[in-house]
Amino acid sequence: QLSKLEILDRKNQEALLGGGQARIDAQHAKGKLTARERVDLLMDEGSFEEIGKFVMHRSKDFGLDKEYYLGDGVITGYGTVNGRLVYVFSQDFTVFGGSLSETHAEKIVKIMDLAMKNGAPVIGLNDSGGARIQEGVVSLGGYADIFYKNTLASGVVPQLSAIMGPCAGGAVYSPAITDFILMVENTSYMFVTGPNVVKTVTHENVTSEELGGASTHSAKSGVTHFSCANEVACINHLKALLSYMPQNCEETAPSLPYEAQGDESRPTLDNIIPENPNQPYDIREVIDGIIDADSFLEVHQNFAENIVVGFARLGGRSIGIVGNQPAVLAGVLDINASTKAARFVRFCDSFNIPLLVLEDVPGFLPGTDQEWRGIITNGAKLLYAFCEATVPRITVITRKAYGGAYDVMNSKHIGADMNYAWPTAEIAVMGAKGAAEIIFKREIAAAADPEAKLQEKVDEYQQKFATPYRAAHRGFVDEVILPSQTRQKLIRAFKMLENKVDVLPRKKHGNIPL
Ligand code: COA
Repeated sequence: QLSKLEILDRKNQEALLGGGQARIDAQHAKGKLTARERVDLLMDEGSFEEIGKFVMHRSKDFGLDKEYYLGDGVITGYGTVNGRLVYVFSQDFTVFGGSLSETHAEKIVKIMDLAMKNGAPVIGLNDSGGARIQEGVVSLGGYADIFYKNTLASGVVPQLSAIMGPCAGGAVYSPAITDFILMVENTSYMFVTGPNVVKTVTHENVTSEELGGASTHSAKSGVTHFSCANEVACINHLKALLSYMPQNCEETAPSLPYEAQGDESRPTLDNIIPENPNQPYDIREVIDGIIDADSFLEVHQNFAENIVVGFARLGGRSIGIVGNQPAVLAGVLDINASTKAARFVRFCDSFNIPLLVLEDVPGFLPGTDQEWRGIITNGAKLLYAFCEATVPRITVITRKAYGGAYDVMNSKHIGADMNYAWPTAEIAVMGAKGAAEIIFKREIAAAADPEAKLQEKVDEYQQKFATPYRAAHRGFVDEVILPSQTRQKLIRAFKMLENKVDVLPRKKHGNIPL
């Protein structure tokens, strides 16, 4: 006869084993960690408190009345990451393949409710065969309960999803609603319908990895924001990401201590922009020249590379950066770049993270492909996201600011607080050659030497408009600054803006062009 204390001990031991040692070994053999090992890696040592360890499913069909596991395939609870409270759920593939039952869903919803009431991030570690097939519609109902909660929590607390195994069918939509998705290379995949269904319906032969692996979703679809080499790297990335975020929408992100070092001038910035305005350079060099050393955490690195977005620290403060990337497609805005940046801007605005925009944009990408797929609607997303953002917003025009893209990229007119330009800035309706060809068309055609006339007009337009001074005369640019001064100017300006209050008109919610 076991004592009451021994019974508890035995149950605890049983819960720790999940689906049993053989399945744990199988999980390891696939190069994957168990759900508990992942939680241990994520949380500060000894800080994890489990909730619902003895929860079991309520199903009776298809033999489930004889098969029970304590915890029902998901470990849920709270703890700290670098000293800050987070809630976590970690799906246990060793129990019914981590599949989602009614009770499994209830456990997830319970910690999401706690997270919302107590204002702390939710981290989901996903590794699941999808809906618990034996349960039918109650399992689907469980998914819907989670989607609903994800949506209510959106913008209240940060929600991060790491995909560390299968995530298919309905399961994909919870991560999709959360703020950031991280995937592990070679061991995780996400798709709405798997390779077998794809083959039946579209006759395409495709592997799970090709259809929905980390490289596919980080480069082609943009579904995942990060592709991580392995599970440890993925968890470290989660921790790094959290460090730039506040706990909830009422707070600001934690700052690191900052002590000014000299005048903060960065002479290397003076030499980045090439003499020839058509020559590319890497905007990351500009970013690195401005921010605190090694503080850039790039988001969506492999997707829509013509725009660069990510978190950084400036004078210890957490900021979000959006920069056109002249090294890829000359930094044009296209559909993917617009949606990528728009979503990032909205995250930063939801969670009080100030925005820095580095602008070098020749315009929107022309062509039938872009027009037919809706560059109008999609470009409008970025415009809308900036217009709506009430966080401190600063723009630095490093070189080109042409056409509608000038307006979109956090111009003064749509609510930017401070707008700087480097002396290399060119702010105009379009490039000088195109402009001259249109407005001096007749004059050029009538000239004895049309080529020479065109060049003369190009030079004239260039001198008049391909500078920051017209915009500075109107106050659309607040100051033309030396590149080397940029860091100093931005540290001061963000400090000046730290108590900014800006309120949008009362409304139910806006209608961003989706
Ligand atoms: N419901 C109930 N049990 C499930 C399940 C589900 N959705 N998915 C997997 N399992 C169980 C399996 O029966 C197996 O149980 P066992 O340990 O008692 O043998 C265990 O989880 C592991 O599954 P297995 O198929 O052996 O693992 P795998 O790594 O070879 O394949 C999947 C993983 C996810 C590809 C595969 O299990 C699968 O296709 N599952 C169904 C996916 C699906 O269609 N879900 C419903 C739609 S949302």
